[in-house]
This record gives sequence, C-alpha cells and structure tokens, in this order.
Amino acid sequence: MRGFFGIGVEGINKAFNVGSVFRSAHAFGASFSFTVAASYERKKGTRSDTSDAMAQLPFYEFSSIETFTLPKGCALVGVELDDEAIELPSFRHPSQAAYVLGSERGGMTAAMLDRCDHIIQIPSRFSLNLGIAGVCVMYDRLVSLGRFAPRPVKPGGPTEALDPHVRGDQILRQKAMEPYRSVPPLAEVEASLADERDD
Ligand SMILES: C[S@@+](CC[C@H](N)C(=O)[O-])C[C@H]1O[C@@H](n2cnc3c(N)ncnc32)[C@H](O)[C@@H]1O
Repeated sequence: MRGFFGIGVEGINKAFNVGSVFRSAHAFGASFSFTVAASYERKKGTRSDTSDAMAQLPFYEFSSIETFTLPKGCALVGVELDDEAIELPSFRHPSQAAYVLGSERGGMTAAMLDRCDHIIQIPSRFSLNLGIAGVCVMYDRLVSLGRFAPRPVKPGGPTEALDPHVRGDQILRQKAMEPYRSVPPLAEVEASLADERDD
C-alpha cells in the first residue's frame, strides 16, 4: 500500500480507550501515533494495548494545538460526528494522512476541527466508543487502499483471483535522463529466489 498514516487523540478521558486506539494502530500498520493536549498514562493504557504499541511505533505527545506538527505533505483528517463531515464510505483517504479523534466526553475542539484538511464521520445512529471509531477508520483505509480480490456478486468468498502485482516502469521526469534508464534486474531476482527455494 502506498503512503503512510498516523492516528491520535485530542484530549483523553480514559487511557483504556486510547490504548485500544494505539493497539489497533499497531495492528493496522500505522507509522506513528500521537496525543494533543492530553496526558496518556501508558501503564493504564497497556491494560487494553497489550501489544505495547508505544514500544513498537513512534509516539508524539503535543502539549497543545499550537505545538502540534505533522510530517510535510501529511493531511490532517478529523474523525467526528459533524454536520460538515464527509461520510466515511464516500471518502477518498489521502495517501499520507494523520487521523485525529476527540475525547470521550468533549469530542474534538472547534480549534482542532478548524485545523483539519478533511472531517469524516462514520454513519452511525449515535456516537461510537473512541476505540471503535478509530478501528472503523483504519479498516476503511485498508479496504479502500489495499489490494484484495474483488467481492463477488453472490454471498461468499471471492470468485476471481487477485491480478498478480505488476511492477511499473521506471518514471523519468526529464527526457534528458532517458539514456540513463536502467533495466530492472528481474532475471537476477528470479534466479536468487530459485536458489533460495532449492536450499
Ligand atoms: C465517545 S465520542 C465523543 C462523544 C461526544 N461526547 C458526544 O456526545 O458527541 C469520542 C470520539 O469518537 C469519535 N467518534 C465516535 N463516533 C463517531 C462517528 N460516528 N463518526 C466519527 N467519529 C466518531 C470522535 O472522534 C469523538 O470525538
């Protein structure tokens, strides 16, 4: 899957719920996690984050929205029930994204909503648990950006195999570089894989 994502929370009421977001972030392959204007008690969080995600992926603690920074080119996506929010099933995830959730009691602040490049909501009859909302978003990212065999028309598993991955051609942005185009050493890779299989 191209790109990367991080996920975090603004404000915290229950470390247990945030631990659950971080554990899922680790499981879904997040590149980083963060908190803003919150103090996360890791010991309490590990009651739900049994994978100890904070020891496995970078964690950033921002004391305020003013000090909150993201990698260059990374879009901030607010996850909140909001009149202006885009419904998650109709949302195209940015390839480089940071998702931010609000606290259990207060939700996301107006200042954080203002900071967001996009705001998305999960269609639900009422507010979901924080950890569950995080999972819905990360799972949707995986399903919509990942490579999976297409869903069949009839109930059940896929009837068509996933097309094999095809390597794209080298992209040269300047014509002048054309003489330096290199041929990928696919035969060598195949030979080395065959050697490994024979061992
Ligand atoms: C428990 S909710 C906060 C509820 C808030 N006190 C309220 O009553 O509106 C905690 C966070 O989960 C996320 N969340 C919960 N349900 C959501 C939904 N259906 N769509 C988007 N985000 C949701 C939001 O980030 C929210 O700030």
